[in-house]
Amino acid sequence: MLTKEENDLLTLVGPGKPAGELIRRYWQPAALSTEIAVGGAPLPIRLLGEDLVLFRDEQGRPGLLGIHCPHRGADLSYGRLEDGGLRCIYHGWLFDTKGNCLEQPGEPAGSTFHERIHQPSYPCEERSGIIFAYLGPGEPPLLPSYAPFTVPDGHVIATKLYSECNYLQGNEGNIDLLHTSFLHYMRRDLASLSPAERQAALERYEAPESLSGRGPSPGQENVEAQLIPLGLRICKTRHAGDDTYVRLATYVLPNLTVIPGGGINWHVPIDDTHHWKYIISFNRERPIGRNGNTQRNDWAPPPTYHPEPNRTNRYLQDRESMRSVSYSGIHNTYFAAQDLCATETAGIIQDRTQEHLVGTDAPIAAARTVLRAAILDVQEGREPPHVVRDPAKNQFPEILGTYGMIPRSMTWKDYAKQLAEEGRGWDTHSTNN
Ligand code: FES
Ligand SMILES: [Fe+2]
Repeated sequence: MLTKEENDLLTLVGPGKPAGELIRRYWQPAALSTEIAVGGAPLPIRLLGEDLVLFRDEQGRPGLLGIHCPHRGADLSYGRLEDGGLRCIYHGWLFDTKGNCLEQPGEPAGSTFHERIHQPSYPCEERSGIIFAYLGPGEPPLLPSYAPFTVPDGHVIATKLYSECNYLQGNEGNIDLLHTSFLHYMRRDLASLSPAERQAALERYEAPESLSGRGPSPGQENVEAQLIPLGLRICKTRHAGDDTYVRLATYVLPNLTVIPGGGINWHVPIDDTHHWKYIISFNRERPIGRNGNTQRNDWAPPPTYHPEPNRTNRYLQDRESMRSVSYSGIHNTYFAAQDLCATETAGIIQDRTQEHLVGTDAPIAAARTVLRAAILDVQEGREPPHVVRDPAKNQFPEILGTYGMIPRSMTWKDYAKQLAEEGRGWDTHSTNN
C-alpha cells in the first residue's frame, strides 16, 4: 500500500513530474520503424505528456520535433516533406530533423530571422525496427545493447499495444510472476499434443500439474526478488519432483522488464493515463517466424495498435470458455488481452492507497523501492542507475529472462549467478518463435 503522495511520485510522468524526469534520462521507444516510411506521412505522437511529430527527411533520417509550428502553431504533422526537412503547410516554414528553421519563405529576401528560431527537437536512433528518442537533458547516453538489439535483422520483431492505463501498473504486471499461473492458465488436453507441442506447453504454461488442474494449489509457488544495480531480479519457483522449476525475469530501470522466455515488455508513457506496451522478441539462432508475435499484431493491428479485445467489449470474455478451457475466459492465445484486462481495470492510475500487498508481492514492493530511489537520484542531482555512457559497459549479462529446471539442492540465486556468469541468462525459447 502506498500513500497518495508516493503513488503520485511513481506514476505521474508529464514534464517536470518526478517519474517523468527519471524516464527522460533513458532512451525510450517513440514508434515502430514501419510507422514512418521514407517519403510517407509524418506521425503525430504523444510521449511523456508532450505532443510531438516524428518524420523522416529525404535521406530517411528520423526527426522528432514539437508538433506545433513556432510561427503560429499549426500542426506540423500535416507538413510537406521536402528540401531537407518538414515544411509547415500554413506559411511554409521549413525545419530539419534537429529543429533548425531553414527557411521562412514569406519573409523578405535576405531576412535572417529564421536563424533565431529553433523548434524543440529530440535525438533519435533507430534499432531493430524501433525508433528510439531521448527526451532528457544534456548529452544522450548510449542506447543500451540489450540482447535483442545485437542479433541480425530478421531475428528480432517488435510490436506495440495501446494501453489505457498508467505505465506503472502495466510494468508491475510483468514483475508479478505469480499471475501467469492464474490469469494466463489454460487447460490443455496433453494427449492431443505432439511431443514438441507438449514441451512448448509445459514451458509456456508452467509446470505439468497446472495443465490439468485449476492452476497452482495454495503455497505451491514461491516468488522472490534480488536487487541488482540496474533494477531487480525476480524469480518464481515451484517444486517438481526432485527438481525445482524456476522462472526468472528482470526489471530494468526505469520502465521495462525482460520476461521469462527472453522478450522485453517496455511500458512507455503516452501521458499519465495511457501508455504503449512495446513487445520485443528475438531469436539468436534463426529468423523469427510468423507464429506467436505477429499474431499479436493481428489482434492489435496498425495503424492504431488498439487491441480488438478491450474494455468497451469487456475484453470479449467468454464465460463458456471459462468453464472448460481458460481461467480468465479471455482469448486463448492472445495473452496480452488478458494482461490488459487485469491492468486497465485497476483504473487509469491504480489507487495504491487501497491495495493490500501480500508475501508474493515482495518483488512489486522491491521494484517500487528501486524506482523511488532512482527518482530521488534525479531530484537530488545525481545520475540514476543504468544510464549507460561507457561503451565497454554496454552489455548486460546480469539481465536474466529464462526458465528451467534445477536440482532441489541448488538455490535459484546460485542458478541465476551461474547463468549471468556464463552469459546464458537471456536465452530465447519456443515462446519467442
Ligand atoms: S504556422 Fe507554420 S509557417 Fe506559419
Ligand atoms: Fe501476463
